[in-house]
Amino acid sequence: MEGKQARTPLIAGNWKMHKTVAEAVELVEGLLKADLPAPVEVLVCPPFTALSEVAKIVAGTKIKLGAQNLHWEKQGAYTGEVSPVMLAELGCEYVIIGHSERRQYFGETDEAVNRKVKAALEHGIKPIICVGESLAEREAGVTEELIQRQVRAAIAGLSAAELASIVIAYEPIWAIGTGKTADGPEANRIGRLIRETIAAVDRAAGEVVRILYGGSVKPENFAEFAAQSDIDGALVGGASLKADQFAAIVRVAVV
Ligand code: 13P
Repeated sequence: MEGKQARTPLIAGNWKMHKTVAEAVELVEGLLKADLPAPVEVLVCPPFTALSEVAKIVAGTKIKLGAQNLHWEKQGAYTGEVSPVMLAELGCEYVIIGHSERRQYFGETDEAVNRKVKAALEHGIKPIICVGESLAEREAGVTEELIQRQVRAAIAGLSAAELASIVIAYEPIWAIGTGKTADGPEANRIGRLIRETIAAVDRAAGEVVRILYGGSVKPENFAEFAAQSDIDGALVGGASLKADQFAAIVRVAVV
């Protein structure tokens, strides 16, 4: 097997700053009752406050646990931050890094993203690195250049083995929470560019790395993305907050 067939699809739910502990428990219990097809990796990324309770519920099930951010240090005087050691202790297998909301509202730089990626990998947590252009950047025609810069900066200094375990999410900022999406072939073109950027560092890693599309993904529009050669799943915001919708997206991922 090679190409897309060799890569397990990943459907990840980014719950952002939604769900109290009680609501998170209800959502994940609803997901466990849904029919989730075997050949898809299913991941939920609740807010920090709900990780511990959700971890207990998903332990030993098909659903995997991820966080939405982390600090690069193991411990220390970093008020308000959460370390990779703390996430690993809870059984987080993944962590979202460099989401555009963190870059936009919390000043996260490419350099910070790189430090976080390295810290996650050092603790056995797979980073889901988010990249994507704003509407102004898209209109200025700098999308490709920007995506390559974000990817290269995020993966700087990683070994070939580390590179093979990362996930990249292409999330055009103008498509997040807006109901607008890139079209399938356009997202695939950027997916291909991301793969080639990684392959330029390590050929084999470029083949195995999974690339997700994110931005207003819904059960009704995901088939167009799932069918693309260089898209291996989705990073879902709004539609991941409802068990039936998220489960429906997981079912669409089996193509
Ligand atoms: P929406 O699916 O709500 O557009 O959010 C996408 C996103 O930012 C996922 O990380």
